[in-house]
Amino acid sequence: MEDYMNVNLSADERAKCLLSMMTTEEKIAQMAQISYNVVSAEEYERFQKLGIGSFLHVLGQDTAKIKEQAAQTRLKIPPIFGIDAIHGHSLLNGSTIFPSQLAMSCSFNTDLIREMGRVTAKEVAADGLDWIFSPVLCIARDLRWGRVDETFGEDSYLIGELGAAVIDGYQCDNLIIACAKHYLGYGEATGGRDAYDTEVTERKIREVFLPPFKRACDSNCGSVMTAYGSIDATPLTANNDILRKMLKEECGFEGFVVTDWENVRALMTNQKVAKSIKDASKMAVEAGNDMSMNTPKFYDCMCELVNEGRIDMKYIDDAVRRILKVKFKLGLFDKKEKISRDVIGCSEHRKINMEITRESLVLLENKNNILPLKNGDIKTIAVIGPNADDIQAQYGDWTYFSHPEPKENVVPENDYYTVLRGMKTIFVDCDILYNKGCDIMDSSNESIEEAAALAEKSDIVVTVVGDCLKQYGEFRDRADLELSGAQLDLLKRLKKTGKPLICVLINGKPLCIEWLKDNCDALIEVFNGGDLGGLAVAEMLAGRFNPSGKLSISFPRHSAQTPCYYNQYEGWHGGRYMDVEAGNVYDFGYGMSYSDFVYDNIRLSKNEIDKDESVIVSVDIKNNSDIDGKEIVQLYINDVVSSIMTPVKQLRGFKKVLIKAGETKTVTMNINPEDLSLINKNCERIVESGEIEIMVGSNNQDYLTARLTVR
Ligand code: BGC
Repeated sequence: MEDYMNVNLSADERAKCLLSMMTTEEKIAQMAQISYNVVSAEEYERFQKLGIGSFLHVLGQDTAKIKEQAAQTRLKIPPIFGIDAIHGHSLLNGSTIFPSQLAMSCSFNTDLIREMGRVTAKEVAADGLDWIFSPVLCIARDLRWGRVDETFGEDSYLIGELGAAVIDGYQCDNLIIACAKHYLGYGEATGGRDAYDTEVTERKIREVFLPPFKRACDSNCGSVMTAYGSIDATPLTANNDILRKMLKEECGFEGFVVTDWENVRALMTNQKVAKSIKDASKMAVEAGNDMSMNTPKFYDCMCELVNEGRIDMKYIDDAVRRILKVKFKLGLFDKKEKISRDVIGCSEHRKINMEITRESLVLLENKNNILPLKNGDIKTIAVIGPNADDIQAQYGDWTYFSHPEPKENVVPENDYYTVLRGMKTIFVDCDILYNKGCDIMDSSNESIEEAAALAEKSDIVVTVVGDCLKQYGEFRDRADLELSGAQLDLLKRLKKTGKPLICVLINGKPLCIEWLKDNCDALIEVFNGGDLGGLAVAEMLAGRFNPSGKLSISFPRHSAQTPCYYNQYEGWHGGRYMDVEAGNVYDFGYGMSYSDFVYDNIRLSKNEIDKDESVIVSVDIKNNSDIDGKEIVQLYINDVVSSIMTPVKQLRGFKKVLIKAGETKTVTMNINPEDLSLINKNCERIVESGEIEIMVGSNNQDYLTARLTVR
């Protein structure tokens, strides 16, 4: 037996041992990843025979042939199969489809997000795959950007916490590896356009964009994906400072870096910093990319570069060692116990999905406590709106409907619930009347009067509006964030009926919803709710559970008011445009409950600390209602005077706690030196002496304060 098959050696030792036996071509093959989407059938066959290191977008049933061919190669190195399992193993019809990442982030529930990761890993592994291109750790700073739905929202701290939780969930059973993406700065591309340049300073990178990736490194994330764009006119793919130096050397990243889709080619064709794919391949590898996704010429170019003596073998050896180490860690070389396919979409997974879906919903308005709906008063309910019965809109992006290629007419194998079906299921004693009312985009395709006639016959109206998959996702940035088509006309007409108007939003990202805030009796944000979104909404309206989600992202009044994230710097003109009222429609951290939580008695374990000390903040919270509820307690800080400007508020802690009806709970949170630190002019992370304002509350506008002195 060769040493690399000795399971008593560490993954790294086995990788080094195998590396020492490999030819240059065998090494370079490990650095390539191929999808059937970009090559001819003959080329695909050739890559399989070459023993290419990784394939993507292959589903379980199609892996066998590739594995067999790898087993025919000299060293029989197994390929690693990557898949976009973005919210569940969602490219596979029949798998558990969770709410979108943005929706789940509103739960602020790290335990449930970890569970969601564990469930997804099981389903992916049961399908014979090993690698998930998730989580997205991009920061949704510009709402026009098409991929806001894929993020955990706008706050770097929250993203870091939820990212670490999901990575842990994905990787805890050692079935698959995670991939933190897209490294770096993707969410603040100029003009909110996908894959454009991001003009940020190194200081800002370290303050805002790097921390979630650092958390991913500390969580032993198996891989990181290089973003498409550029920073300061250097493409991320060719950015040695950001990849090799910052990620690998400084953050101590131990896994491997994969480029995004055809990044190597784009160095030549789009970003124009390389004359040829060969030059681009050299640049990408030297900068710190270990594997190239889908630039088919990469393999031949790299072989030529070595033959011509134009690339140092040390880069190749390091890349291949990293890839092999992951393969050994995952047990790809060893006999592994197979996970039964029965877990895919199983009832245990559905239960977890139900829990997280419930916690993801955000109650934004509840005028006169119209919710929960009172039993007995309601006989007829009109369910109206373009997203009331549209499962594609409810699923959102990255499911088998949209990827790897669009397939509009697939029938979901899952027992899914749209809002219409949810209402029929929960309100069994009521008549449910339905009319679509209008289209999401085509304003001529409407049936507003028919919808209004149903509303007239009903006791209440539940309207489901939002957006559709054509309006977000890659290539689909949006300049106008108003409700599209005739949706606002529909809502205005329904309002005229005088019936109580409950509005449910199913949308990929924040839209301008000021009219809805002012005019709807209740307003609920779902984002993309997955399999069970519609059921959870109906349960919530019926009071079967108490809503507990809070927004992980702010909602602007006007499209041109973006960026509108909460943690901005203070200016001196009130931060307003002359033609739009100041402030957001809803802020990060906002969300209502059926309970009433009252905060009192904020206190610190010490009022003065040294720079390397921690402090404990406590607060008493009373549930002043007769219903048990979960509250997301949020802790923000503000550095009162500092050597550089710091944001008006920064989230530095949160806790989700169950507080029983009438109960008072003391919640404590720890603030450590890292939480108090800032990145100074020299790009160093330091704690400065001075005063820190500490804010603890129910959202970022409503809090108690305490003062801490740092000596
Ligand atoms: C996306 C990535 C994704 C990859 C593979 C790219 O277009 O930017 O997020 O993982 O495709 O599907």
